[in-house]
Amino acid sequence: MDQYIMKGQVPLSGEVFIAGAKNAALGIVAAAIMADEPVHVDNIPAIGDIQALIAGVKETGASVVEENKHRWMINGSTLHSVTVESGELQKIRGGYYLIGALLGKCHKAEVVMPGGCNLGARPIDQHLKGFRALGAKVEIRNGKVYAECERLVGNHVYFDVSSVGATINVMLAASLAEGKTILDNAAKEPHVVDVANFLNSMGAKIKGAGTDLIRIEGVPKLHGTDYSIIPDQIEAGTFMVAAAATRGDVVVRNVIPKHLESISSKLREIGCEVVEGEEEVRVVGTNTIQATNIKTLPYPGFPTDMQPQIAATLALATGTSIISETVFDARFRYVNELNRMGACISVERDNAIIVGPQRLTGATVNASDLRAGAALVIAGLCAEGYTTVCDIEHIERGYEDFLEKLQSLGAVIERVAENDTRAKTKFRMRVS
Ligand code: EPU
Repeated sequence: MDQYIMKGQVPLSGEVFIAGAKNAALGIVAAAIMADEPVHVDNIPAIGDIQALIAGVKETGASVVEENKHRWMINGSTLHSVTVESGELQKIRGGYYLIGALLGKCHKAEVVMPGGCNLGARPIDQHLKGFRALGAKVEIRNGKVYAECERLVGNHVYFDVSSVGATINVMLAASLAEGKTILDNAAKEPHVVDVANFLNSMGAKIKGAGTDLIRIEGVPKLHGTDYSIIPDQIEAGTFMVAAAATRGDVVVRNVIPKHLESISSKLREIGCEVVEGEEEVRVVGTNTIQATNIKTLPYPGFPTDMQPQIAATLALATGTSIISETVFDARFRYVNELNRMGACISVERDNAIIVGPQRLTGATVNASDLRAGAALVIAGLCAEGYTTVCDIEHIERGYEDFLEKLQSLGAVIERVAENDTRAKTKFRMRVS
């Protein structure tokens, strides 16, 4: 296993280019198998989650060609299997989009249950409720979801919770259903809109994505397209917060500033300067970060996927901050690790109480999930001395070239093999 080793207290500076949105790409790559013609998708992030999903797509028999690092061609005309049980797919969340895609196209799907970050209970009842409303018989057996129907017929689906996954998954199936579907209390995240735009570019008839009421007029088939995925809101937010925490000055390029408003506004509140351009955002840190309160909410609220990273930053802030997590029930598993580095954070039910400012010092810490890992790296970049972040495969599942991008901003960080003490000593000697 590899680890990141870093020496902290170097302000990040320079510019960084943001990759395509992971959570849009997962929906789009799965949806691409629904057409019987070549579908070209650009700006796909080169990350572990996409590799895992591609392995699942290949299992269906759809042809897949990597045209370059970020551009793939997928052709569903060769699809011959509705069974996807790849071990790789089990590790990620987004593999469940193959259920909606296969059910829409083939009226049958047998897909391994999703994995992904352990953020507490992550039920998929709303996905299944949506598929059943369209006429599918759905059951979970032997670790797989089995969904099947004679005919898929549009219906009114009311989601009990705002769910990104359920909204996208049912939208995929409903695109090829007979008649009209209404998705009520739908998720409004930018990646939901991007998947809808992608489906529309293949001939689907979806209106209202980005609001909580999505109307879908089913079509009999979808055609080929050439589509480019939007930039990743959370990768951009992570670099913005890293700039703030290290008191740096970073221009985050290839972003949609509108998608970053909740993050920009919190960074301004804690004292940073945030300047928005057309496709970039510049964050200039402040020496005296101020405490603030944050509540995670579905879009356009502050994203839960930015919660650990901002917590690491608030550990350095003057005063007491409270973060309320309203989306997932166990997303504070990184707190013990931050406290090992000197943060003073206590968790009471859904709230993290962060007392600052604290002096962070380097330690060996474990990334319990993707965003937790990013938060620990941010803390390490601010800490005195050396920090080792273990279990970085979580980070690389969702951030493209994270290490290289940080290095290009001046971070003193390297990837080393867990047991390679020589490399670790060499790193320390080189940077001391
Ligand atoms: N929920 C249900 N039933 C369902 C589905 C969701 O109760 O059938 C609940 C969840 O337990 C949670 C809430 O609804 O409390 C929202 O969950 P949602 O379905 O929106 O999350 P998800 O689709 O599992 C996606 C992203 C997550 C991101 C959330 C929230 C993907 C592959 N994952 O997860 O991304 O945190 O939406 O925006 O799109 C990440 O990128 O680090 C990540 C965890």
